[in-house]
Amino acid sequence: MAVAAASGTVVSFYAATSSSKRPRVRMTVRSSSLSVTPILTNLQNTCATPLPTLRRVADAITADMRAGLAVDGGSDLKMIISFVDSLPTGDEEGLFYALDLGGTNFRVLRVHLGGKEGRVIDTEFERVTIPEELMLGTSEELFDFIALRLETFVQKEGGRFHLPQGRNREIGFTFSFPIKQTSIDSGTLITWTKGFAVSGTAGRDVVACLNEAMERRRLDMHVSALVNDTVGTLAGARYWDDDVMVAVVLGTGTNACYVERADAIQKLQGQTPSSGIMVVNTEWGAFSNGLPLTEFDREMDVASLNPGEHIFEKTISGMYLGEIVRRVLVSMADCGALFGESVPEKLSTPFILRSPDLCAMQQDKSDDLEAVGSILRDIFGVSVNLSARKMILEVCDTIVKRGGRLAGAGIVGILQKMEQDTNGLLFEKRTVVEMDGSLYEHYPQYRGYLQDAVIELLGSEISKNVIIQHKKDGSGIGAALLAAVYSKYK
Ligand code: BGC
Repeated sequence: MAVAAASGTVVSFYAATSSSKRPRVRMTVRSSSLSVTPILTNLQNTCATPLPTLRRVADAITADMRAGLAVDGGSDLKMIISFVDSLPTGDEEGLFYALDLGGTNFRVLRVHLGGKEGRVIDTEFERVTIPEELMLGTSEELFDFIALRLETFVQKEGGRFHLPQGRNREIGFTFSFPIKQTSIDSGTLITWTKGFAVSGTAGRDVVACLNEAMERRRLDMHVSALVNDTVGTLAGARYWDDDVMVAVVLGTGTNACYVERADAIQKLQGQTPSSGIMVVNTEWGAFSNGLPLTEFDREMDVASLNPGEHIFEKTISGMYLGEIVRRVLVSMADCGALFGESVPEKLSTPFILRSPDLCAMQQDKSDDLEAVGSILRDIFGVSVNLSARKMILEVCDTIVKRGGRLAGAGIVGILQKMEQDTNGLLFEKRTVVEMDGSLYEHYPQYRGYLQDAVIELLGSEISKNVIIQHKKDGSGIGAALLAAVYSKYK
């Protein structure tokens, strides 16, 4: 598709400074010949993910997995040992809590488990938005806030839930940032991701941070399992279905975990659990090998809170898709007069465009793209003509397609590692990949691109055995289930 931007082409450009620090004064140069089409074409070429690219990425993920399993620091993929060597069976019984910290919201959850017969008898949850200043504040402030909200939630327990006399309430703590896990109930934070930059937590045991905050509030609770959200998702799904082997989160951030044979993990150095299995948290967000990246990705990375880190995450996850698109639009506005004579001031605000906005625009199937126009007006405060709306949709689609297809390649990278290790047995039977996260759940185009890539890579026959599914709220219940599996009262 070739779309010129504005009719009377006017080029606006700023003095050479980074886009986030533009001066308000701007020069405007008129031109009759410039269009945004070459920028789009260039973008589409750089972001293209034909089968050979997908295969290269899937193979690189497989290779990085092996290197990361051999030794800590062996590759971009940390391949973190989760210490989860038993998954829920359905026998779990009792009252358990889950605390889920992984993005701009955290959730507290109460689950009453009734064993094989009763299963999940009752659940209650509360979602709390983390004030932005706490995401950039101190560790103590963040954990005090969490303990306070947890306390308020516990106070509402009411008569429906019963805890046997003499027992502490047990928590499954889902902490969705890279952790060096040291046991099932401890782990030190390696680094914050997803826009968090809380001081004083990196290098500390996050369970100790939570315990200290709970002690300050005299809250008598005990963390029985510290898990990544992918591990919670896997456990939650396994509770219902024994064929679940992989869990993937595609939300603000992204990650995947899977069930590994313990003897394939060299860095366990012979300390193999009796179950013979271990859930491994890949932390695939840190993958970077051979990705089709653009100048916009690189600039966004440089400006990020964690430059040079989590490149796969910055290419495929929900936090970043809108920001990449915004950066392309800035270039189109500056060099191709996408918005006509004046560049909307709000276009220079980082992260003003979010993936739910891209998604909402991509659902507009009308000829005049009225919904697209009104979304852009709401965000940027300007009217955008039809040809520019079409162009913007093309940019969204290019970035979303690349993200979804690369995520699909990531899934195949994991599956093919498991397949190679089982001498071709995995693909002969039903294997379930459990998906979670708002991006996957709410963005049909993204989901479609991901599924297409998996089918292209695996072929239609094998793909029939690979079930990619999403069940609501696997991860919260999963953490509570793991608290039950690893209960200190067992
Ligand atoms: C974190 C992972 C997490 C993922 C999805 C990433 O930024 O590093 O630990 O699983 O986001 O929430």
